[in-house]
Amino acid sequence: MKKYLKDLLIMYLLLFFCSCQAEVKRPDVQIIPQPASMTNMEGTFSISSQTKILINSENPEMHKVTSYLCNRLENFYQIKSKVTFSGAAEKKSIFIKLNTGLAIPKEAYNLSVTPKGIILQASSASGLFYGIQSLLQLMPPIQQKLSEVVVPSVEIMDAPRFAWRGLHLDVGRHFMPKEFILKYLDYMAIHKFNTFHWHLTEDQGWRIEIKKYPKLTEVGSVRKETLVGHYGSKIYDGVQVGGFYTQEEVKEVVAYAADRFITVVPEIEMPGHSLGALAAYPELGCTGGPYDVATTWGVFDDVYCAGKEETYAFLQDVLAEVIPLFPGEYFHIGGDECPKTRWQKCPLCKQKMKDEGLKSEHELQSYFVQRMEKFLNENGKKLIGWDEILEGGLAPNAAVMSWRGEKGGIAAAKEHHFVVMTPGDFCYLDHYQADPKNEPLAIGGFLPLKKVYGYEPVPAELTEAESKYVLGAQGNVWTEYMKSPEQVEYMVYPRAAALAEVVWSPKSSRDFDNFKSRLGRLTKLYDILGITYCKTELK
Ligand code: ACM
Ligand code: ZN
Repeated sequence: MKKYLKDLLIMYLLLFFCSCQAEVKRPDVQIIPQPASMTNMEGTFSISSQTKILINSENPEMHKVTSYLCNRLENFYQIKSKVTFSGAAEKKSIFIKLNTGLAIPKEAYNLSVTPKGIILQASSASGLFYGIQSLLQLMPPIQQKLSEVVVPSVEIMDAPRFAWRGLHLDVGRHFMPKEFILKYLDYMAIHKFNTFHWHLTEDQGWRIEIKKYPKLTEVGSVRKETLVGHYGSKIYDGVQVGGFYTQEEVKEVVAYAADRFITVVPEIEMPGHSLGALAAYPELGCTGGPYDVATTWGVFDDVYCAGKEETYAFLQDVLAEVIPLFPGEYFHIGGDECPKTRWQKCPLCKQKMKDEGLKSEHELQSYFVQRMEKFLNENGKKLIGWDEILEGGLAPNAAVMSWRGEKGGIAAAKEHHFVVMTPGDFCYLDHYQADPKNEPLAIGGFLPLKKVYGYEPVPAELTEAESKYVLGAQGNVWTEYMKSPEQVEYMVYPRAAALAEVVWSPKSSRDFDNFKSRLGRLTKLYDILGITYCKTELK
């Protein structure tokens, strides 16, 4: 009897000990952007080098998805994985299933993590890629050799709210090296952004090689010095700077973006913000120059002459070289901040207005944009431009990027034109994000994290049918006061995380305090990746 009791006690202790061993702490789930639907469940799944990664499709896009997962497992945890083809899930595997018959939107995915394994399904490779991004956010935010990576059990059914989830970067005011552009894309992918708006030409520098017009980069990409301090300081640094991307580099960037399911939208500015080009080819301006690449910021009176046929021929040649480099559907032609001062005096501009029956310089700008639209449409692209392209009449198929508030976007949507919302008060990431007294010099404004998070891209003025024309929203990053990649990152993060949630997550799930409680995990990832970010609002 005594022996029986002793055995029972030993057995009980053993059982207790084993259950303690088996119980792995279930990590918290903190995904940004917040998935559309998520159920946390009991238990965990552990990924080790023994865990098979199975795919059901030989589609070449699958490689982008699996290599992203395998690289992260190896780089963060030193877990080497093998990908094999399989028609079905196996026990304790990660099954990545491209299911083109699945009735969910293109970028949507379903992710199931249970103690038995992981199943990720989507109707497209981009959906699978976003599922991988969420899965990676379930893993510990550490970079350390692990024998097992513990993932909490969860069921996620997720889909983005908007099709255009954009970040922009101005490389005209300050050129940013190609290596940084690749990093910028990497960081975008983590946040499920899918559109990179690359602002490639400016008064302060032309940044893309055009083979037919070599002076655009020989002359137009170099400025002799740069304003120091705030606009109007009249102090210059005396340091010549330049920089541009060769077409081969552009192809590399576009391919790198495509591997992360990001479309690159190029912007070639016209008819304003064109001093870089005019310095190289002064015959394209109304006065004939000479012009200098700008050394200060702002808006300049010298713009392309809209009266000369040579201007249209030049720009079409430029577009003809740029179009094939960018496979996306949209092409941005700028269109903002074009003073009409020179056009009002220019005999050729006045003659053009007379010949074409145009009643104002705004109509001349509209004529200019419509010619460009025709060329773009004939070459398989849709035109998008800043909201000034509404003035004088919108080109027939043009999409509008609304930056001077939402008025332009609302007007365009009411005319059944597609719209991307980037109003300055909510989406300009060059504005101060905290008390300017303690911040590096910025252009001005005040856009704290909470205000970005609170942005609603669909204005109440639009009917449900009109709101379908709002493609999404975008953060704009103008670099007058961002001289280095680190400064760009500092201005972009963590505000881009807030914007990512605005454009991805359901409106009903928006909750700033909850978002902030999830940011801690994401900023640990920023630390590992070496992303510079503003910590003021995280305290
Ligand atoms: C702009 O900020 N000028 C579009
Ligand atoms: Zn002119």
